[in-house]
Amino acid sequence: MVNIKKKLRGINGGSMFSQKLRNLDWKKFQALPTHKRKEYFAKDGRIFDVLFSQQFSRATLDLLYRIINKVRHIHKTKDGAKWLSSLLSTKKAMLYFTQPSTRTYLSFVTACQTLGIQTADVRSSQTSSEMKGETFEDTIQTFSSYFDVIIMRNPHEGHAEKASFVLNNTLRPIPIINAGSGKDQHPTQALLDIYTLQKSFSDVGGLDNKTIMMVGDLKRGRTVHSLSYLLTNYNKMKIILSSPEQFRMGTEITEFLKINNIELLETTEFKKFLPDADAVYMTRIQDEHDTNNESSSYDKKKYTIDQEALKDIKPTSFILHPLPRIFEIKREVDKDPRAIYWRQVRNGMWARVALLIYLFRLEEKIFDR
Ligand code: CP
Repeated sequence: MVNIKKKLRGINGGSMFSQKLRNLDWKKFQALPTHKRKEYFAKDGRIFDVLFSQQFSRATLDLLYRIINKVRHIHKTKDGAKWLSSLLSTKKAMLYFTQPSTRTYLSFVTACQTLGIQTADVRSSQTSSEMKGETFEDTIQTFSSYFDVIIMRNPHEGHAEKASFVLNNTLRPIPIINAGSGKDQHPTQALLDIYTLQKSFSDVGGLDNKTIMMVGDLKRGRTVHSLSYLLTNYNKMKIILSSPEQFRMGTEITEFLKINNIELLETTEFKKFLPDADAVYMTRIQDEHDTNNESSSYDKKKYTIDQEALKDIKPTSFILHPLPRIFEIKREVDKDPRAIYWRQVRNGMWARVALLIYLFRLEEKIFDR
């Protein structure tokens, strides 16, 4: 009994969570404000479960930036790459992706390979015992019996957080990484976006004091939600939100941006504001979330970058896209030096390597090398 109590106290660093909070059920927990919930997913003052962008401070973002740069440098030599692949060779990762993915899934697999982490996956609930009626809770707890980290993508909002909530109330909590949850957030995409932006602006003072234009289905696009939250960590930012009226960013996020001193402009215009942007972040229409064919009203021609639109974008600006793209950036744009979405794809792997190093607390080892 004493041992079990001790073990339970050890969960999440012990002192942070009162018994009262631990006894909350999921519905009540979900109703807590973000700053309260965020504490639950931290340990020893560090992020333990990576669930939503509001968990990240400027200090953590700057630390990840340094880890990425250092890891990329180490990996350039054969010895360095070999050393990296021994760092986490005793660890195992479960990739639980029950929603389609190319980049996020593969970049996590290659990030794990880079660090020597062994992986297994479940890519559809059709192939797990959930089909026999096993609950989500039991499925997640089973994964935690075999693995050291769970990386999950799920079509439902909040499911990664629910998985963390479940595990943090067991004797074997392991970190959960949200690799995309329904329409709400995709924090690791936002981390790679921030890295790409910071790196691209490194000769002009970094990301502070820049104007970022986000375009497309801002209502249902989880990448722009997560990126918006992260941008509040930077100084003197302006965000232009360009979308059709029915696909505007939710007020929960726009209010957060305003409270956090972001200068905000919401518009249905596209071309008019291109010259103002230091970076244009394009997104696709998220028609998989349609319930009544809403996407059919989307003006595809208007919200598209082609050769003509390129003329309106500053020579010093950058064009980003989380991908996959459908129509919103013509392939001919790829050759333009301002187009950096393929760099984002590559950076995604390094950002996830850095995140895993951070979660397993190995950054000092990296910096010492
Ligand atoms: N950007 C992104 O999440 O791509 P995938 O859906 O291919 O993982």
